[in-house]
Amino acid sequence: MGTLSYIKNFIRDRQVASITPTSRFTINRVCAHIDFGRDIRIVEFGPADGVFTRVILEKLSPASEIIAIETNRNFADSLGGFNDDRLTVVNKSAEDVRQILDSKNWNKADYIISGIPFSFLNEELKHRILKDSADLLADEGRFLGYQTSSHLKPYLSEHFSSVDTEMEYLNLPPMCIYVAGSQQARR
Ligand SMILES: C[S@@+](CC[C@H](N)C(=O)[O-])C[C@H]1O[C@@H](n2cnc3c(N)ncnc32)[C@H](O)[C@@H]1O
Repeated sequence: MGTLSYIKNFIRDRQVASITPTSRFTINRVCAHIDFGRDIRIVEFGPADGVFTRVILEKLSPASEIIAIETNRNFADSLGGFNDDRLTVVNKSAEDVRQILDSKNWNKADYIISGIPFSFLNEELKHRILKDSADLLADEGRFLGYQTSSHLKPYLSEHFSSVDTEMEYLNLPPMCIYVAGSQQARR
């Protein structure tokens, strides 16, 4: 688990995109945007070995749910070990999110948390995943992204009417956190 598991998987699968897990400081900063005081539905893109998922499950109410979508089979398998009824792990891509939510009979999600490497995706796929995310979020829902640069902001701005960014420097490398919401002004 942790850095060793990231390095092993990164060597075989460059889509892993990182050799070290996100820091606790970044995780706390992202989680500060989530209302854990009510029953909520969360989708997580790119959980890897569950560094975020573990913290979310600790905070989540008993009736809340999380769907974790991970392309890397080793990571997806390791998440199976969490053994928590509120968690569904799907070994697919974020680009399949519509079909995945349909199959779980979810109309909407309250939060989408994403650490997938958007800079590796072509333009069409980037827009498709962000448009689907905006469509699938509840009215007060939020897309919470974290990336090592601010490159995603203009893309998010095309699909969400509000996009705020924050930097977390206690992360290697420093992390840009995106908070996007509102269903107005989408493409
Ligand atoms: C930078 S790592 C982030 C991992 C972890 N969430 C963290 O914060 O440390 C990106 C993760 O996204 C996964 N991934 C990459 N492309 C993906 C896609 N299109 N859909 C779902 N997962 C993807 C990778 O396998 C990897 O586990």
